[in-house]
Amino acid sequence: MMVPKAIQADAKVLREEINAHNHRYYVLDDPQITDQAYDRLFRQLQKLEADYPVLQTADSPTQRVGSTPATHFESVQHEMQMLSLDNAFDEAEMFAFEKRLRDRSQLESETLYFTAEPKLDGLAISLLYEQGLLTRAATRGDGNTGENITANAKTIASIPLKLRGKDVPKRLEVRGEVYIKHADFDLLNQQQGESGGRVFANPRNAAAGSLRLLDSRITASRPLTFCSYGIGTTKDVDLSNSHFQRMLMLKKMGFPISPFIECVSGVEACIEYYRSVMKKREDLSFEIDGVVFKLDDIQLQEKVGFVSRAPRWAIAYKFPAQEVMTTLLDVDFQVGRTGALTPVARLEPVAVGGVKVSNATLHNMDEIMRKDIRIGDVVIIRRAGDVIPEVVAPVSNKRKQDLRQPQMPTHCPVCNSEVVRSEGQAAYRCTGGLVCDAQRKEAIKHFASRKAMDIDGLGNKLIEQMVDLDMIHSPADLYHLDLPQLSGLERMAEKSANNLLSALQNSRLTTLAKFIYALGIREVGEATAEALSAYFGSIETLQKADIETMQQVEDVGPVVAENVFHFFQQQKNRLIIEDLIGQGVNWPDPEVEIAADKQPLLGRTYVITGTLEGLSRDQAATQLKALGAKVSGSVSSKTSAVIAGEKPGSKVTKAESLGIDILDQAAYEALLK
Ligand code: IVH
Repeated sequence: MMVPKAIQADAKVLREEINAHNHRYYVLDDPQITDQAYDRLFRQLQKLEADYPVLQTADSPTQRVGSTPATHFESVQHEMQMLSLDNAFDEAEMFAFEKRLRDRSQLESETLYFTAEPKLDGLAISLLYEQGLLTRAATRGDGNTGENITANAKTIASIPLKLRGKDVPKRLEVRGEVYIKHADFDLLNQQQGESGGRVFANPRNAAAGSLRLLDSRITASRPLTFCSYGIGTTKDVDLSNSHFQRMLMLKKMGFPISPFIECVSGVEACIEYYRSVMKKREDLSFEIDGVVFKLDDIQLQEKVGFVSRAPRWAIAYKFPAQEVMTTLLDVDFQVGRTGALTPVARLEPVAVGGVKVSNATLHNMDEIMRKDIRIGDVVIIRRAGDVIPEVVAPVSNKRKQDLRQPQMPTHCPVCNSEVVRSEGQAAYRCTGGLVCDAQRKEAIKHFASRKAMDIDGLGNKLIEQMVDLDMIHSPADLYHLDLPQLSGLERMAEKSANNLLSALQNSRLTTLAKFIYALGIREVGEATAEALSAYFGSIETLQKADIETMQQVEDVGPVVAENVFHFFQQQKNRLIIEDLIGQGVNWPDPEVEIAADKQPLLGRTYVITGTLEGLSRDQAATQLKALGAKVSGSVSSKTSAVIAGEKPGSKVTKAESLGIDILDQAAYEALLK
């Protein structure tokens, strides 16, 4: 079939335009047209190629959608071995690396320059360009023989199908890493899970699996990214003697190179570079496992040579591992405040990122089933930054025999009450409520916490100890504690016991919103508690409200309404509230107008600064508001007085300059009376 000249020209222009947009998007990270405009160009080209199949050239971007599946991968002999890297794990090993270089090159004092870049955690490939066109892509394999994965590599948008620029080399082999970014990996696994496909243990496995699919149309749907880090064999190309300059040349030709690439001088600078990349590690959008340093001078590289499989002129300075393997010894279930049972992995202790780990979260039962985690499995543990260590996945090829699946217990491991799963919810819960010691501890911790009753000095350990000793069964019991009881506790001097008693005393005066929040009703956070307080105005009205009325409150839907209603239906909860109020827990009525004679500070505005003894600023504010005063965060001419505790801030200076009264703690206490 004859293709009209004009059509040929159109196809060429479209190809070049689309490839240029691709380059801007994937390599320069600087797109110039919208996705829709891009799609339009792409479809135009697809149409031309469908009408005239000869127009489908090797560099056509339409090739990136993949083609009919292959039956196997051809093997590829690497002309130049694909080497691996030696590792360094500490500074001493970096200095030893430098010493070896000096000994080999007989350079004693000259400065050594290194190209530095992060070590990507993916897999190495080789890309061969002949007359400027991508003609072959291969995996590293054993370094000598790899697999021909050209069809798959062509689907990766950041791999150029054609070199940019005028003087294209006859032959150029580019090497680099194929990897998957964190966000793309999460999305991929989510899709895989939903479609019943294979769930990958980590981005590296996902990249390796995707690159070795016989059906390149599936590879095309996988979010693979490429970054180049070196040059293999070449013909007819002027190469700089500096590795760094060579990388810049690759960039000009259209290859992505690391945005963090630098040329540094001396090993001290290498160590500094390592530290600065380590700091960025958590914020990067992709996984790295260290930093690679390469002697920059290519002639010197050749002089120092390589040993078996790794060059002497390069080194990977590795970060402490964030993912390690260990054995899952057992799965226990931890009971939270609302009774939810969370599976916790008990592990053969192992160091992850420099910290010894023997427990890790398994999230929930669905996750365990989805990943098919069994007791006795070798599992991958991940610990990144401050997050709780988690079990990522089992290492399935290490499972040698049939292993037992973890089972959700039918009865609570703490109180033996029945465990149920409410319809439509992921969590299994213990039905024991405050009968359950675990829930009791968590409920009391929540009750005492800063945003709830704010009981200063009542820490988690102390609460656990008191529950274990049967001293307290409910939050209300806290207000029954006395000095002899408290000072009888382990590591509790009389002074701390007294402090705790006065903190308890101070916490008695609160607000209705904080009180509701402190009750720990499921899904009632601070904001909902505020809304309920403002709507109902008193605990009695709230307790009597029906589900429909509760849904009148802003942001309260059927689930929260049901939870609140159910909470107050329970006799034991009503008794606890009654007990708390009986023990003097109180709050000013938020809605009902208080007669002016009961609000002696009406119309006055106070600013609180510094540390007050035995009283948080929030508590002082509550006390003042109860007497009708306003409390403000900043001093102005409208301020009636500033209440200043220890170490007050600039607010006192400002008050002085405006001639406003400053009250110390004693004066404040007198004011309250
Ligand atoms: S250079 C002779 N540079 O690490 C040089 N490799 O452990 C050989 N890798 O197979 C490779 N990022 O898959 C080099 N910036 C980087 C790298 C890098 C990741 C991988 C590569 C290689 C393995 C060696």
